[in-house]
Amino acid sequence: MSAFPQIAAPDAEGLRRAVELLRADSVVAFPTETVYGLGANAFSRQAIGEVYRLKNRPGWNPLIVHVATVDAARELAAEWPEAAEKLAAAFWPGPLTLVVRRAAHLAGVGADNDTIAIRIPAHEVALRLLAASGLALAAPSANRSESISPTTAEHVVRSLPEVPLVLDGGPSSWGIESTVLDLTTPVPTLLRPGALPLRALRDVTGAIAVRDEETADGAARPSPGMSRRHYAPRAKTLLMRDLREADRAGLTAPSAILTYEGVGYPPYDIVEVLSADPREFAADLYAALHRLDDAGVATILIQEPPDGEDWLAVRDRLARAAA
Ligand code: TXA
Ligand code: MG
Repeated sequence: MSAFPQIAAPDAEGLRRAVELLRADSVVAFPTETVYGLGANAFSRQAIGEVYRLKNRPGWNPLIVHVATVDAARELAAEWPEAAEKLAAAFWPGPLTLVVRRAAHLAGVGADNDTIAIRIPAHEVALRLLAASGLALAAPSANRSESISPTTAEHVVRSLPEVPLVLDGGPSSWGIESTVLDLTTPVPTLLRPGALPLRALRDVTGAIAVRDEETADGAARPSPGMSRRHYAPRAKTLLMRDLREADRAGLTAPSAILTYEGVGYPPYDIVEVLSADPREFAADLYAALHRLDDAGVATILIQEPPDGEDWLAVRDRLARAAA
């Protein structure tokens, strides 16, 4: 049993309560293979409003809609391009979000744009919840806006203490958000690097346009939600080429480092060493940042990860955490 009363096992009773809340225009946090989502009936203005309020999310940032089947996804779209058909067949259920033209009859789902972001999550509990509720579920990551995304049920409650219910599906296996791909452009465009690597996408669609990795606030935002500071721990966070060059005398204690296997580092109060494999690193990253926040560290020095496409999503999140 969990220390938090809002956390429920995803058994018949937990699902029943979740469906009841969703049908009553309330919200429920649920596990996905990427991170935990804060779910709401995608067509309830009241429920969507509650998501924005609980997260303190700016109203211009639209939500991803989760569905159980490709047919349900097509119904939300005004156009379902060939690329969507192929990508859905190859990667759904899975950590890929597709942005397509939104069906004209749809209102709500957050921001007033004419596109919609959709995915089928690859998590048994999420799929059971979608099936049992019969709803399309808008769900952003279940954390306060700009803070670290949750990969466990406890992370959700700590970030959103007011959340009425969290279905506990254990730790998220990917541990990093879905890859967001815009299919409304002539060439599919990467809006947010994420769990699914570009190489896998290219094998199915051919060329993919990638914008600059670094997007300053005020500059064109590739995905509306990609503000420069995001995924940020409470501690002051610095990204470094070489941790041995840090001026430790100038740091507020207690200080920590976050690095990966095989690179040198000096002793610190707290040390988190993650895998040198990008997928394993990503899977542990948010949990490690949550641990450091929980430990009350004042400063986190982060070893810059290697260059190269395999580390794209991790580099993106670390740059935002440290911005
Ligand atoms: O892995 C994930 O994608 C998780 C799980 C819960 O599914 N969800 C997630 O949601 O990360 P959120 O709200 O934290 O991030 C959604 C991203 C944001 O960058 C948002 O701006 C973008 O998707 N997005 C949503 N709708 C969009 C649209 N119509 N056009 C372009 N970008 C959109
Ligand atoms: Mg988020």
